[in-house]
Amino acid sequence: MEAMQMLKASSFPSFYSSYAKPFSKSKPPSNLCVQTNELKKTCILTCSKSCKKEGRFLNLPSAASTFSTATTEADQETIFTTKTDNEPKVSEEKFDWYDQWYPIMPLCDLDKRRPHGKKVMGIDVVAWWDKNDEQWKVFDDRCPHRLAPLSEGRIDPSGRLQCVYHGWCFGGAGDCKFIPQAPGDGPQVHTSKKACVGVYPSYVQNGILWFWPSTDAQYKHIILEKKPPYVPELDDPSYTRPEEFLTRDLPYGYEVLIENLMDPSHAPYAHYTIMKVWEPPTR
Ligand code: FES
Repeated sequence: MEAMQMLKASSFPSFYSSYAKPFSKSKPPSNLCVQTNELKKTCILTCSKSCKKEGRFLNLPSAASTFSTATTEADQETIFTTKTDNEPKVSEEKFDWYDQWYPIMPLCDLDKRRPHGKKVMGIDVVAWWDKNDEQWKVFDDRCPHRLAPLSEGRIDPSGRLQCVYHGWCFGGAGDCKFIPQAPGDGPQVHTSKKACVGVYPSYVQNGILWFWPSTDAQYKHIILEKKPPYVPELDDPSYTRPEEFLTRDLPYGYEVLIENLMDPSHAPYAHYTIMKVWEPPTR
């Protein structure tokens, strides 16, 4: 309980942060390269065109070799070998940030009557309740017409997601169902593939709406292969109560939050009068 209160009063990971560095959507996740350096407890992200050739990942030299002053390739190799000989080997473990499920919102914070815009992993998404499929859907938050944010739109009386700008209506599969300006007796322009919205795989687990950060059709049934991490305690009423779920947008990374939560001595001071904590010692 105390931990939950601290979490409430202090922070929450910045998956939801509007300040999160967006990864270019025009450069798909295949350009993301990650290497985890176990020794230095750091995680290095970079993007490179060569990633595509070599797979998703690029092995980066450790910090020691990165800042070497060698001028020739041979020198570089010597320094790299010398620096790393006495160090534990850098972990070869690779983590693909775009090959994971991500939480968007707890259901208790989602209103079925309207669309909800969120930025997760730098991706703008809109979550909305599809009453026809009786499911939460997660779409790219850009209308295919003029890129207006669909999260600014509404759910129309037929249960479709309607764009705020010119009123195009979309069904739960991302297909355009209706273009108000198109003459009824003209070509069925709304059936064009260009009129479709990108749909992200989504799933509800532990009372949380999750999404898979790719609209590529190959991931449509990703849930059959891989599910979001399951936390049994979140479904156990003796551990949690609905009102203890919360999300908060914070303009910093998760590592700052972890450091904060590992530092309980700040609570009586930083949260003074904000939350019920033990009295600070006096002398
Ligand atoms: S921008 Fe969405 S309908 Fe025109």
